[in-house]
Amino acid sequence: VHGGNGIKGMVDLGLKQVPQAYVQPPEERIHKLDAHRHEQPPIDLSMLDGPDRDRVAQQIVRAAETLGFFQVVNHGVPLELLESLKESAHGFFGQPPEKKGIYRKDVSPSPLVTYGTSFAPEKEKALEWKDYISMKYTNDADALQYWPKECRNVSLEYVQSSTNMVRKLMEILIGHLGAKLDDSMIDALIGSKMVNMNFYPACPNPELTIGVGRHSDLGSLTVLLQDGIGGLYVKVEEDVDFATKGEWVEIPPLAGALVINIGDTLQILSNGKYKSAEHRVRTTSASSRVSVPVFTMPKPTEKIAPLPEMIEKDGVARYREVVFADYMKNFFGNVHDGKKSLDFAE
Ligand code: SIN
Ligand code: FE2
Repeated sequence: VHGGNGIKGMVDLGLKQVPQAYVQPPEERIHKLDAHRHEQPPIDLSMLDGPDRDRVAQQIVRAAETLGFFQVVNHGVPLELLESLKESAHGFFGQPPEKKGIYRKDVSPSPLVTYGTSFAPEKEKALEWKDYISMKYTNDADALQYWPKECRNVSLEYVQSSTNMVRKLMEILIGHLGAKLDDSMIDALIGSKMVNMNFYPACPNPELTIGVGRHSDLGSLTVLLQDGIGGLYVKVEEDVDFATKGEWVEIPPLAGALVINIGDTLQILSNGKYKSAEHRVRTTSASSRVSVPVFTMPKPTEKIAPLPEMIEKDGVARYREVVFADYMKNFFGNVHDGKKSLDFAE
């Protein structure tokens, strides 16, 4: 439909109405006024180094057990970098088609880099209103060699400057499960990384489309930068003081903050205690939106299973052991369908 130039290319030609291929069935459409805004204050990570450490750690654990989403400030990623990331996302997608199209999956010069549109366009009944560039991180040298030069330096700096925070969060979350903390275990859980730049063009019919359909993330933790447009919604799994189970809440844009969410890997590891929450993104007619997630995942060869400490405590293993490569293959081989991805580990 988009002729290889993404949805942006199509919109730039003066599209007045979304093509039928992007029209969602009524049950998947997002009604803007349906959702609460999630007005929880962000968690100040600098306080982990002070006398209030335990209280802040408890906030993190509580968020992981309920909504599976929280926002953080003083996270160690420079604020100017956050601005540069958004600018370079606009810069990358603003280029002519031939500059982006060279990274399409079938022709990309590197298996680390993929430019595409929607999530699984060959399989989806209705396409998602999103273009993206995906950059797998293996090491600094590969990133510098293979990532598109228009976004490589900022994306690499983003990965580097967020790593410390990711490790700290993982130590708190795993530590709270009663597991003996050792560095090699944390290393294994955060052993692979990927940065995406997502571009959601302004959409002539936001009421008919979705930016991203209902899904949970597959890895350990996702760090997400969103711009000021809004439209990220999360489904509540456990009652919280501002919403009840089953409701959708919006994670509002907060200048300088990063959004953190729990992925399937941590839900499996914690035997279901931590929630890999279902989330989705709405489109907007007024302006385009960008977001830049860093996905932190186990290495593909890693085996993922509920921690023995959790099985003992719960008296049951809610998930089987899976090799992460197989889990990934299943995740990327299917359309977004809520938390279906976790069925693979049942
Ligand atoms: C995603 O979860 O796939 C995207 C989130 C966002 O764009 O805010
Ligand atoms: Fe996601």
